[in-house]
Amino acid sequence: MRHLMSPLDFSVEELDRLLDLANDIEANPSRYAHSCEGKKLATLFYEPSTRTRLSFEAAMLNLGGSVLGFSSADSSSAAKGESVSDTIRIISCYADICAMRHPKEGAPLVASMKSSIPVINAGDGGHQHPTQTLTDLLTIRSLKGRLGNFTIGLCGDLKFGRTVHSLIQALIRYPNVRFILISPEELRLPDNIRDGVLRKNHQDFCEEVRLEDAMPELDLLYMTRVQRERFFNEEDYIRMKDFYILDREKMKLAKEDMLVLHPLPRVNEISTEVDDDPRAVYFRQAQYGVYVRMALILTLLEVEVC
Ligand code: CP
Repeated sequence: MRHLMSPLDFSVEELDRLLDLANDIEANPSRYAHSCEGKKLATLFYEPSTRTRLSFEAAMLNLGGSVLGFSSADSSSAAKGESVSDTIRIISCYADICAMRHPKEGAPLVASMKSSIPVINAGDGGHQHPTQTLTDLLTIRSLKGRLGNFTIGLCGDLKFGRTVHSLIQALIRYPNVRFILISPEELRLPDNIRDGVLRKNHQDFCEEVRLEDAMPELDLLYMTRVQRERFFNEEDYIRMKDFYILDREKMKLAKEDMLVLHPLPRVNEISTEVDDDPRAVYFRQAQYGVYVRMALILTLLEVEVC
């Protein structure tokens, strides 16, 4: 039995197969419509979510399976003090696979150790968000035609943004990826990723404060919101929240084929006037999230589709 805690849990070859499967699901959805009949997915969300939880649920329903779960800690027995370890033992009696989001780093890993069903980390604190990374990789590969040989700008809250941490770890395994890390001083990438991942792997990267300076070089721009829920005080959040606003003027500085990604939700960091720009692909990215989660469920449940 396999779990998914980090994007590195899959080899590059396994990831290629998963992304191929996701593309096939996109092209031939009816072929997969009954492949999980009789199977149940539990979504255990101790933190708010729109895309991740509902795309997991849509993915399982598209595969002919069923879903159950909770969408906040308050509506589960966590509110009475039940541990994650006990909860997963119970859920293992009710479902065949589960996706868990939790504010504490490592909580899904703890659950996986007590679970008799595959556990998927759907985001743990500021640590990892591996299924967002699968979504990002599928989006980039489908729309750019390759993973590797590009310059990617990661912009915004690089300190608390778990999607960025997971994406960097995944992308360093592909050739010739150059990272431009664009953030205010206070929201720079944590040392464990800058030194422990980028420097350790001799990765080409630089740090910038001004988005405008990086724009002309980028093949991909990955925008992120400032993570209000991870700040210790509201004053700091208010000071930081509008540090970057991508608008039409800034888009004029970009290459004609640059793509703008964002894991969403957005707050103010991308002006809505950018939404109609053909280079803005963040809503398509959310759709790719359904295909890749369908592929992930099939892979972890070891369902073969003829
Ligand atoms: N991208 C993402 O994780 O969105 P949600 O928080 O809405 O799930």
